Amino acid sequence: MPWISDDSLTTFQKFCVNVLKCGPIPKHIAIIMDGNRRYARKKQMEKLEGHSRGFDKLSQCLKWCLELDVKEVTVYAFSIENFKRTKEEVDHLLQLAREKFTKLFQEQDKLMEYGVCIRVIGNLTLLPEDLRQLMAKAMLITKDNNKAILNVAFPYTSRDEITNSIQTIIEAVREDKISPDDVTEDLISHCLYTNLSPNPDLLIRTSGEVRLSDFLLWQTSRSQIQFAEVLWPEFGIWHLLGCIFKYQRGCMELIIEEEESEDAMSERVKEFLDELSVKRWRQLEIYATA
Ligand code: FPP
Ligand code: MG
Repeated sequence: MPWISDDSLTTFQKFCVNVLKCGPIPKHIAIIMDGNRRYARKKQMEKLEGHSRGFDKLSQCLKWCLELDVKEVTVYAFSIENFKRTKEEVDHLLQLAREKFTKLFQEQDKLMEYGVCIRVIGNLTLLPEDLRQLMAKAMLITKDNNKAILNVAFPYTSRDEITNSIQTIIEAVREDKISPDDVTEDLISHCLYTNLSPNPDLLIRTSGEVRLSDFLLWQTSRSQIQFAEVLWPEFGIWHLLGCIFKYQRGCMELIIEEEESEDAMSERVKEFLDELSVKRWRQLEIYATA
């Protein structure tokens, strides 16, 4: 399966998508793709085959999101906690990522045509060097695309992300680039791995598990959260459209709150954030050419 499925929607599916598009569509959807191994067990297939089916579902889901004009999707593809699974499974997931990121370069033209930007969010230092290099290259070649954004969390946990943000800030305070008074919620957000993205409007977790598993804890404080009973590889377009419909009902019930205005940033904080951004892109270039 390619990163973005070639399957087209039926006329009726297109009609329903267009009806939903008359209402508010979440700009950013986050997904915890859970239930791959249970799916494999249920279908009596090799346990690890469930993850490949999971990727195929991601490919279809990205196509549906493009049809719906969802601008940004963030998926939990590998938690730092997943390193505790058996070596066989960890190796399989890393190998699957290697294969898919290698294939991504062959699909570059299509990604460019759709204007898709791929970002990997997470602690890349925990990955094998060859995979980190593939991911860095994918991010660099698609970085100027802006029609749709796919954030792949790999390997990621919120606690690691928040710790990393705070460490970045402490270093800047120590180096006298900013002062302790500059440390605000806004600054912490700007130092997260997700600093380039708006917060998700909707978070969906499949498989019936009702927990967030350390995914985007900081970013989902105001998001609508939905738990779907279906296993991830079984998630179909009607499940997604159902989630969007429920989201729209939630939006209507919501008392429109004034967006919190961001604190005005001092020049020195802006300078520090510009410098941090340059440093992070430079780091990716180093990974890409290692
Ligand atoms: C959770 O199901 C899923 C994962 C740990 C991996 C998700 C990965 C993919 C869908 C492939 C994505 C790959 C790329 C390169 C983007 P689970 O293993 O926890 O299954 P269970 O809940 O049934 O045990
Ligand atoms: Mg699970």
